Amino acid sequence: MLARLRDEIGRSGGWISFARYMEIALYEPGVGYYAGGAPKLGAAGDFVTAPELGSLFGRTLARQLKDLPYPILEFGAGSGALAHTLLSQMEVEYSIVETSPELAARQKERLGNRARRLDRLPERIRGVVIANEVVDAMPVHAVAWRAEGIMQRGVTFDDGLRWSERPAGGALLEEAKAIDVPAPYESEIGLIARAWMKELAQRLEEGVILVIDYGFPRHEYYHPQRSMGTLMCHYRHRAHGDPFAHPGEQDITAHVDFSALADAASEAGLEVLGYATQAQFLVKCGITEVLSEANIENALHYAPLAAEAQKLLSPAEMGELFKVLAVGRGVREPLLGFQ
Ligand SMILES: C[S@@+](CC[C@H](N)C(=O)[O-])C[C@H]1O[C@@H](n2cnc3c(N)ncnc32)[C@H](O)[C@@H]1O
Repeated sequence: MLARLRDEIGRSGGWISFARYMEIALYEPGVGYYAGGAPKLGAAGDFVTAPELGSLFGRTLARQLKDLPYPILEFGAGSGALAHTLLSQMEVEYSIVETSPELAARQKERLGNRARRLDRLPERIRGVVIANEVVDAMPVHAVAWRAEGIMQRGVTFDDGLRWSERPAGGALLEEAKAIDVPAPYESEIGLIARAWMKELAQRLEEGVILVIDYGFPRHEYYHPQRSMGTLMCHYRHRAHGDPFAHPGEQDITAHVDFSALADAASEAGLEVLGYATQAQFLVKCGITEVLSEANIENALHYAPLAAEAQKLLSPAEMGELFKVLAVGRGVREPLLGFQ
């Protein structure tokens, strides 16, 4: 990985953007974190997502999805855990778009022919698109607002990988200028996530796009006190802020600017159907009813389920930091999770 990065930095005149760095570190064939064979998700890996905790998240989400008469298209399905639970709850056509060949192989092994992998995004989509903890893994541009002006943060190599700044330009500068923060201030701008949403929204003829991830609306994302940005890395269940620590062996993420995603969807003609914290959404979908189906007398069965609910709902865990954004076209009924 280091040789690959040095080579790319050298060929690019000694500097690459942070977005390019993140793209190589996570997705470069053969050496990128998501391209390689490390476990990544679950107890033996680096992080645990809601579907990896157990089936409670998926069974609750299924209550919302059963109201929507559409095929499901899941982005970045990880180990296939969410697809596995949803398919156990409902008869539905299920497709997956997955960038990591290694995870696609795991999904195939787990799901067999019950889900099909799409190599490309369909031209027209009628369906429910789900992206759980996918947008946080999309490369972001790193920006610094300094006394002397707005800089783009990038990466150089001398005796190791180092941050290095250049004056920002083009679309990034325009976006950064529209954000009012007190210098000095560092943060991220998700140009790639916005482009992803815009393309998806343009192709959505009818249906819903559900983005579930950690993040904030814009005024909280670029809050004066969040002056060190939102980059977060996961290595063997330890979260830290150094994206250069274990390139290729650790996850690198940024929080999601949900206002930017909603704007991108609106620009493509979609409606915002709902926005809520994960806790609010799961409660409205009926997580307590799902819990009540369990045998409360059997502590061995019930205790792990209660612990799972606690993780999903508690403001100290995923309940408040994680949000659910729904945008769509042609959906008349209000969505259960936002009522
Ligand atoms: C943090 S994992 C989350 C996996 C799963 N959704 C879960 O909740 O357990 C991120 C997933 O998104 C995939 N991914 C990242 N960028 C993607 C993109 N642009 N399109 C499709 N999948 C993507 C990764 O390969 C990986 O499967």
